[in-house]
Amino acid sequence: MPESLNVGLIGCGNVVQYGHRPAINGLPDIELLALADITPARRAIGKAWFNLRDDQLYADYRDLLAIDAIDAVAITVPQQFRRGIVLDAFAAGKHVLSEKPISQAPAVADELIDAAASAGLKLAMVHNYHFLPEFRQIKGMISAGLIGDLRVATLHFLGVIDYPGAAEYQSDWRHTMAAGGGVLMDMIHAVYLAEWLAGDQAQQVMAFVDAPEYAHRGPVIEDLALVQIAFPTGYAVIHMAWGEGVGGIDISGSDGQIRLRYKQYQSGGFNQPVELYSVDKDWNRSDHAIANLEHHLDSVARSFTELWADFRAAIRDDREPMAPASAGARALQIALGAYISGVTGRVVSLPLDASSPVYHKGIDGIAELPAWDESKTKAAGLFGLRE
Ligand SMILES: NC(=O)c1ccc[n+]([C@@H]2O[C@H](COP(=O)([O-])OP(=O)(O)OC[C@H]3O[C@@H](n4cnc5c(N)ncnc54)[C@H](O)[C@@H]3O)[C@@H](O)[C@H]2O)c1
Repeated sequence: MPESLNVGLIGCGNVVQYGHRPAINGLPDIELLALADITPARRAIGKAWFNLRDDQLYADYRDLLAIDAIDAVAITVPQQFRRGIVLDAFAAGKHVLSEKPISQAPAVADELIDAAASAGLKLAMVHNYHFLPEFRQIKGMISAGLIGDLRVATLHFLGVIDYPGAAEYQSDWRHTMAAGGGVLMDMIHAVYLAEWLAGDQAQQVMAFVDAPEYAHRGPVIEDLALVQIAFPTGYAVIHMAWGEGVGGIDISGSDGQIRLRYKQYQSGGFNQPVELYSVDKDWNRSDHAIANLEHHLDSVARSFTELWADFRAAIRDDREPMAPASAGARALQIALGAYISGVTGRVVSLPLDASSPVYHKGIDGIAELPAWDESKTKAAGLFGLRE
């Protein structure tokens, strides 16, 4: 058996429970040597999950980074704390697997990419939806030419469940400016999926960004984003919301269509896909069996396990991971571009202009932009635009 990859985990919140825990515990050649979390109760939970000793638990991640035997760390803290930890990890010579989004600001994302390159270390993203069977199958169908050239990929995620963060920490951090955005930023999965399905890099983005669901509580970030993305050829449309709306995927190509539905039209990710079919030019329908349909919740854990196996292989073979940091940086720019569009009422070219305040500060720079008087985002008072 190949030598184990010795890892450390920084942050032990909800995503560890259903994602990183089964991956780390399930892969025989990944060995968790230490865990760091600032919240004592979360360290105690992690100790039990991973069967660790007390001397493997740390309050300060820098003590974990000082352990020579650790080759790589997974950084699973909320995004506002990522920059310093990633830079310290590279300074300590550790490869990094970073949760999404890579950061709240493109300037920071670029800084982290440069730091990884200078250190000669990997910076991989947890873009786990690449490994969910239904999205893999759809990508395979498109790549095989089943629907010809991709024209429009529509990703409906209007029924995203707004899960709180771990109760022992700050369960509401996703609803603060520090999170760098609302449901679109949190569900940036749809953004990188759009780019992956299109097979190219986004050139332009435009959007409506609003907060009807949480209007009663004076929200500072969005709970609804209706986004259109232009690629060199083809388009993607993302309908994203925390709420009860429709989910599923509809893809139109030059020679046919692909459709994916979840049980009760729920949104993708944790829900059960029930129907995947394609239609050819003559409207002949073909049903496609969805892999692992009976055990979809296992698929979520398995997606993280495959992602970790890819990370380990990228280090071992010195190759790019499935989702390198550059993909995380592009997804961040698309999401922020949608926010800029919502505020200014304009189509936004990508990549973002490096002189833009949003490039440097993420949503903290939005209030410096010339807001359109009729902007729904402005009317909702999001991103520091409350009067
Ligand atoms: N890939 C996915 O499908 C997925 C799913 C959920 C969350 N996430 C991402 O994972 C990250 C964490 O989300 P979550 O839902 O687990 O949050 P959470 O609130 O449940 O947990 C956050 C944890 O980080 C710890 N923490 C905070 N600051 C720290 C620091 N400086 N050092 C060490 N520990 C620290 C907290 O004590 C807490 O245990 C976010 O970036 C989120 O976007 C990804």
